[in-house]
Amino acid sequence: MRNFPVSFSTLAIHHGYDPMQNEGALTPPLHLTSTFAFETAEAGGEMFAGEQPGYIYSRISNPTCDLLERRIAVLEGAEAGLALASGMAAITATMWTILGPGDEVILDKTLYGCTFSFMQHGLAKFGVRITHVDLTNPENLSAAMSQKTKIVYFETPANPNMRLVDIQAISDIAHEHGAYVVVDNTYATPYLTQPIKHGADIVLHSATKYLGGHGDVVAGLLVGPADLVSEIRLQGMKDMTGAVMAPFNAMLVLRGIKTLELRMDRHCSSAATVAKMLEQSPGVRQVWYPGLQSFEQHDLAKRQMTQFGGMIAFELTGGMQAGIDMMNRLQLITRAVSLGDAETLVQHPASMTHSTYTKEERAAHGISEGLVRLSIGLEGIDDVIADLAQALPRPPARNAA
Ligand SMILES: Cc1ncc(COP(=O)(O)O)c(C=O)c1O
Repeated sequence: MRNFPVSFSTLAIHHGYDPMQNEGALTPPLHLTSTFAFETAEAGGEMFAGEQPGYIYSRISNPTCDLLERRIAVLEGAEAGLALASGMAAITATMWTILGPGDEVILDKTLYGCTFSFMQHGLAKFGVRITHVDLTNPENLSAAMSQKTKIVYFETPANPNMRLVDIQAISDIAHEHGAYVVVDNTYATPYLTQPIKHGADIVLHSATKYLGGHGDVVAGLLVGPADLVSEIRLQGMKDMTGAVMAPFNAMLVLRGIKTLELRMDRHCSSAATVAKMLEQSPGVRQVWYPGLQSFEQHDLAKRQMTQFGGMIAFELTGGMQAGIDMMNRLQLITRAVSLGDAETLVQHPASMTHSTYTKEERAAHGISEGLVRLSIGLEGIDDVIADLAQALPRPPARNAA
């Protein structure tokens, strides 16, 4: 890279790749290979011993994945990155590497459904203590930290109810006690928030979402200090899960990341318009969007995010059934889970992404039964607004008689 200041998009498009080192190919080559030849038997042995760099086998590393790893690391402001098969692979490989029986992980109250299920039912089976704390108030963490706490883990904004966590305040407390801070940055992306700069140790992504951006790939990424990322590569990914990213998927995510800034600008501006429209609509009880003045943590959002994202949660006055009926009336907006795609998607967390919680757990973890989640896409904003307007409950007629 030339020696001048480089912007987010320039890094997203160019970092780590020189066409002149690759036959002039503008687009990085796709290295579809499972294994790599060694010049000599001794060289192979030295690579296995870690005495010489080089590629060995694609369950450890691959040049196409490697480029993606360098790109996400620079965008997040981290030393090193790792590409994995899915967001869940990034989460599980991190946890299996760092935690052992008797260790404690402190989690925020609200987590994506499968993350909750993995921690609550998966990790707990192996003797890891799982403690949920409302991390929206950092004082709660001070009170909860114990000698056994190895990891403090949260999402910000959280899926699905948009709660924010103050990364710097939480990191300061966790680090005083020697614990790692792991942040799921899927909703914000590095374009809106760079948790490492606020003190986090590991940042991970479901790259299936905004980073891929086109609904055609399941992928995961994580970044952090080089030593720790290397441990996760060699233990959590290579041996304990085997959940590596396919090189073809790395190519799709590399392509997606090139337009991340442009897409996020549009997601954010459209979501801000939709959030305001919903807030002014008669049948809507509440809207949760960090950019709204009415959002309880709006000040933190302004401090921690450069814009407020493309995700919105809302609830209708008619509760869950009204929400389901409204979803069924939508004609353009697609009823589907996942998020961060070009298409605007709507889903009902209690019966879909967060059905891994029991009803009682959802109540205790701040996920209401009537909540509707919207991922605002890239379509013309007038069309999205028109579809929502025709699907929202109609106000009762004034002169029914
Ligand atoms: C916030 C968050 N983290 C992690 C995941 C898991 O990612 P993946 O589906 O790529 O395994 C999801 C999936 O929806 C998510 O929304």
